[in-house]
Amino acid sequence: MKLEFDPALPITARHHEIRDALRDHQVVVVAGETGSGKTTQLPKIAAELGRTKIAHTQPRRIAARSVAARIAQECDVELGAEVGYAVRFDDKSGPDTVVRLVTDGLLLTELQHDRRLERYDTIIIDEAHERSLSIDFLLGYLRELLPRRPELKVVVTSATIDVERFAALFSTPERPVPIIEVSGRTYPVEVRYRPLDREDDVIDGIVSAIRELPRDGDVLVFLPGERDIRDTAEVLEGQSLGDVVPLYGRLAAHEQQRVFQTGPRRRIVLATNVAETSITVPGIRYVVDPGLARISRFSTRLKVQRLPIERISQASAAQRAGRCGRVADGICIRLYDEEDFESRPEFTDPEIQRTNLASVILQMASLDLGDIRDFGFLDAPDHRAVADGLTLLRELDALAPGRDGSDRLTKLGRTMSRLPLDPRHARMVLAADRLGVLPEVLVIVAGLSIQDVRERPLDKQQAADTQHARFRQPDSDFLSLLKLWDYLQERRDELSHTKFRRMCHDEFLHYLRVREWADVNSQLRRTVRELGLKPGKVRKEPDADAIHRALLHGLLSHVGLRDAETREYLGARGARFSIFPGSGLAKKPPRWIMAGELVETSRLFARDNARVDPAWVEKAAGHLLKHQYSEPRWSAKRGAAVATQRSTLYGLPVVVDRTVMLAQHD
Ligand code: CDP
Ligand code: MG
Repeated sequence: MKLEFDPALPITARHHEIRDALRDHQVVVVAGETGSGKTTQLPKIAAELGRTKIAHTQPRRIAARSVAARIAQECDVELGAEVGYAVRFDDKSGPDTVVRLVTDGLLLTELQHDRRLERYDTIIIDEAHERSLSIDFLLGYLRELLPRRPELKVVVTSATIDVERFAALFSTPERPVPIIEVSGRTYPVEVRYRPLDREDDVIDGIVSAIRELPRDGDVLVFLPGERDIRDTAEVLEGQSLGDVVPLYGRLAAHEQQRVFQTGPRRRIVLATNVAETSITVPGIRYVVDPGLARISRFSTRLKVQRLPIERISQASAAQRAGRCGRVADGICIRLYDEEDFESRPEFTDPEIQRTNLASVILQMASLDLGDIRDFGFLDAPDHRAVADGLTLLRELDALAPGRDGSDRLTKLGRTMSRLPLDPRHARMVLAADRLGVLPEVLVIVAGLSIQDVRERPLDKQQAADTQHARFRQPDSDFLSLLKLWDYLQERRDELSHTKFRRMCHDEFLHYLRVREWADVNSQLRRTVRELGLKPGKVRKEPDADAIHRALLHGLLSHVGLRDAETREYLGARGARFSIFPGSGLAKKPPRWIMAGELVETSRLFARDNARVDPAWVEKAAGHLLKHQYSEPRWSAKRGAAVATQRSTLYGLPVVVDRTVMLAQHD
């Protein structure tokens, strides 16, 4: 394995300093601007120190593969031999592998079989500033593990954001963790603001930005996802502005390599935010930044985990602009105005702060990381929220008391942890599979996971309501969603792309969200297939009862019983709520309902509701019901002793005055 260090890379100036620090300390933090050589050079420095089992983590699979290929090339070895990689479903490493690129998620799953990470002598946590849950889990776990593995070395790398926090996590008063800064020289970048005329005109904005730029260098355009990249590429291909080079996760390895090949012709690289900090595209002189990215978020309003397209933070925007100041002066065109920039948050918050805690607890249980309350998080979650999360997981049957009374992950819970969904929704999906309504419930859950596609502009509410009323189903907002989905599928098949878009606009349906709905649905279908389930086609006449029974499994604490006097609903644990006026059930409120979510505004409102049958509730909530029986009495009619049964769910009377024979229950 050849270990040479390019003097042109900024990190090379600090090569010896890093090597000595790593020799003398168990943990070292290396910070530096993107492109300074952290990712490609640090594992070589570790190897030079005689380390032979190095795990090198990347947040994304695409980076794990391409970094491995690059390091193998620099070391003049075959990929898969001394330098290899392993990502889910694809392991190109072997017994001789010294540097093993892995996704941070994969390293977490390895923990389940190798609690002390004996397989490695060095762990490099790259891109720690991303602060994904996986990274936070790894950092917290390593902190506990290090004293028990004194010979294990850890390197944490980060863009120059909040670096001290990483060092502080591992420092003790006697042994502070060194931080080594390796940023190289950068050139000034001129930022121009070119706001779009309309939110939907991103592609047009990109084309005019590219036209505005000098033709003497490569352009890097940031887009939220693969779909946007393909759409934009299609438009750009016809314009002879340069060679179009896409860069996103699902590209084949050789297609990804194209971004590293510069040539005489000008290139236009269309990338997701993988090019923001993890992959440095060479030769970039200009950046076009629409200011959007897909960010994993838990929305408190929707109570779901999703990957919405969002405005990026100021720190991300600065990183993006910096991509064109590495070799010479650059120009960055932002497709929004300066005021918009100023109004953005400074940093993207760590995922743990934007994620549903029930979902965090579930992930931790499935990875066997121990009690969340004792875990050494960089940012510990709030205790009350933890307690609520635990309660919810017990309700969903994802956790159940073990023999010693502590919470244990159930088989159901383990499967739920593998679905990229809010745990309530994950529970619905698994129930749907058993009840034979999986494709329908996937569509509904995908619809609930995104912002409502039905728009209601203030000045056209009446017109919008008339359009949307066509999909309304009397007893269920969930079935209305399904009806709307059917309609959209049909029209999409019939109409051209442009006509479909116009139709959405005319009928008050938000086109981008309609597209997101379809994307989320396909993503979910792929995931459940990986779990071995078979999502068939959505049926024209689906089994409505089965769908509702499936949904109910996720909504047991969202069941309400109407109080005829106050016209409110009595909910779990004494809550009182009203049906949201936009719900299809508002006009004729049924006696029992379940709410997709409960939203606190001026009052507690139930959104997305459906009528339920208390008999379903009794069946689904078996593990939560509290039963009471009256004194036994003799029934001549039955010729047996009988009692009266009353059962409650979180205080709601699900069974009242039912006569049961005593033999049935003693
Ligand atoms: O991790 P950091 O951002 O500090 O830098 P790096 O990813 O190690 O990149 C160092 C240099 O190697 C950059 O100039 C990259 O463009 C270059 N590189 C490359 O040419 N081909 C690759 N496959 C990976 C990196
Ligand atoms: Mg890097």
